[in-house]
Amino acid sequence: MAITHDGKTRTSNAKLLSWVDEVAALTQPDHIVWCDGSEEEYDRLCAEMVASGTFVKLNQEKRPNSYLASSHPSDVARVEDRTFICSLNKEDAGPTNNWMPPDEMRAQLKELMAGCMKGRTLYVIPFSMGPIGSPIAQIGIELTDSAYVVVNMKIMTRMGQKVLDTLGSDGFFVPCVHSVGAPLEPGQKDVPWPCQPDIAKKAIVHFPETREIWSYGSGYGGNALLGKKCLALRIASSMARDEGWLAEHMLILGLESPEGQKTYVAAAFPSACGKTNLAMIVPPKGFGNWKALTVGDDIAWIKPTADGTLRAINPEAGFFGVAPGTSYDSNPMAMESCKENSIFTNVVLTDDGDVWWEGMGVAAPAHGIDWTGQDWTPDCGRPGAHPNSRFTAPASQCPTIDPAWEDPAGVPISAFIFGGRLSKTFPLVYQAFDWNHGVFMAATMGSEATAAAIGVTGIRRDPFAMLPFCGYNMASYWGHWVNMGKRTDVKLPMIFRTNWFRKGPDGKFVWPGYGQNMRVLKWIVERVNGKVGAVESSFGLMPRYEDLDLEGLDFSKAQFETITSISRAETINEIEEIKTFFAKFGAQLPPELEKQRQEFGARAEKAPEVWTVAAAA
Ligand code: OXD
Ligand code: MN
Repeated sequence: MAITHDGKTRTSNAKLLSWVDEVAALTQPDHIVWCDGSEEEYDRLCAEMVASGTFVKLNQEKRPNSYLASSHPSDVARVEDRTFICSLNKEDAGPTNNWMPPDEMRAQLKELMAGCMKGRTLYVIPFSMGPIGSPIAQIGIELTDSAYVVVNMKIMTRMGQKVLDTLGSDGFFVPCVHSVGAPLEPGQKDVPWPCQPDIAKKAIVHFPETREIWSYGSGYGGNALLGKKCLALRIASSMARDEGWLAEHMLILGLESPEGQKTYVAAAFPSACGKTNLAMIVPPKGFGNWKALTVGDDIAWIKPTADGTLRAINPEAGFFGVAPGTSYDSNPMAMESCKENSIFTNVVLTDDGDVWWEGMGVAAPAHGIDWTGQDWTPDCGRPGAHPNSRFTAPASQCPTIDPAWEDPAGVPISAFIFGGRLSKTFPLVYQAFDWNHGVFMAATMGSEATAAAIGVTGIRRDPFAMLPFCGYNMASYWGHWVNMGKRTDVKLPMIFRTNWFRKGPDGKFVWPGYGQNMRVLKWIVERVNGKVGAVESSFGLMPRYEDLDLEGLDFSKAQFETITSISRAETINEIEEIKTFFAKFGAQLPPELEKQRQEFGARAEKAPEVWTVAAAA
């Protein structure tokens, strides 16, 4: 069948035109549509999805201009086992990525994708990661057979004609091919969430050398919105290594002192550590007119500039946040961001046409439709929202969005913060002695795993929170960070680690977390600006009790000691576990990191059995 075309080819970029033809010849869609990114296009696609049952339009009064989608039960999260880095050499993918020889993978993709868009429309989505035309931004083009992807990309990126105009006739773009992998036979009725239900057949593939992305079989999140994890982290990390910049899984936050001095930090946390909450932190009541302003909640692209500062942009334009647990208590700014013009996926539909999820901070509806499409009541024994259910909301709707969030030049980064979820040993906050020590702290970060999920070690390492997102050998990535520290033309930010999750002898969290984390951020800002002291521990530089601004918080010195004391035996154990972890990386491990490990060991050996801030101060 001849492919029909919307007749609106909007570019003279010959490479783009021939690539679209090539992909169409392989996937055989019925129709090709070039997306212009207009509101009219968005509304039309949403209306089409309402008609086809993919979307439910929510109550216009309660949740204006918003929609709900529910996915196929097999298609609810990123598929790490089916995510591949197909570099030419296996070693370049490293021990933490799935790899297959590129030729073999290309042959498989060709087979999977032959005719995979039959009966569907191929949408051409031109998008910019970062403000259009920013020297830090990159252009991608996603070819997809999912209208759900188009409308999500409209929120998550700068999308449409203006991107093609910037691309011009010979600009560079990252080609991204996406198919849900569910061709339609003539006369076959479509389903609300088409996908390839067999997880073994899904494939999320990156070719780092040619900067290409191919995604087959899933319509969900990071598997399908290819600008996010695939381009902005996996492919961009490879570009960043080659070009001397950083593509990081980091939030960006601006902290403004009562005197109006602004300090920007970028922070990485493993999942379930409150990263989105920290990105939108609201300082606690009475906390002297400090302001926290959001630049980004998930990804940072950071480039050295001529004056030596590292400047960061948020390559995204929206939030793709986890819904459960998001409430006016935990994250009021996220709640405000998704009040309207948002898309919800896999949450509960209430009888009055609004959405609900566990941990939303409002009473559960007496009845609703759960994410699987079944009747749901609070006592039915099943969660109503999928644990990985999401809201897609425009970043511009966040009340604390930073005025500079779209500055093409980016914002200057003064500190990197790395976190973990660790119930013991690791202090509330500590600063690296120097750059390589900071890289070591980030490379060894992680979260406590439940006993059932772990082997010998109690910590599931997630270096730089990049484990599923680093597009090349993780040890070379550490080397790239070490090399950044050797550059004489770069002003290096200070590096910190935090742990909000230390528990007391009663097994309860001691630090209140959430908005109160602002107190730790203030110490970090004051360290950056040379305004506050620190004491030296084997872990790094730490605040004394009196260095933290605890005004208005009932937090005793004894509680502070509970979450800052350091056991020598536990530290030595950690250093041994890091040895096992590092061994996985063989000769690729930068010698600077093993040196850091040994120096940590030497410091730990010299420390008292139980080190306390009070005794050291
Ligand atoms: C995300 C993730 O969805 O990191 O942002 O998994
Ligand atoms: Mn993320």
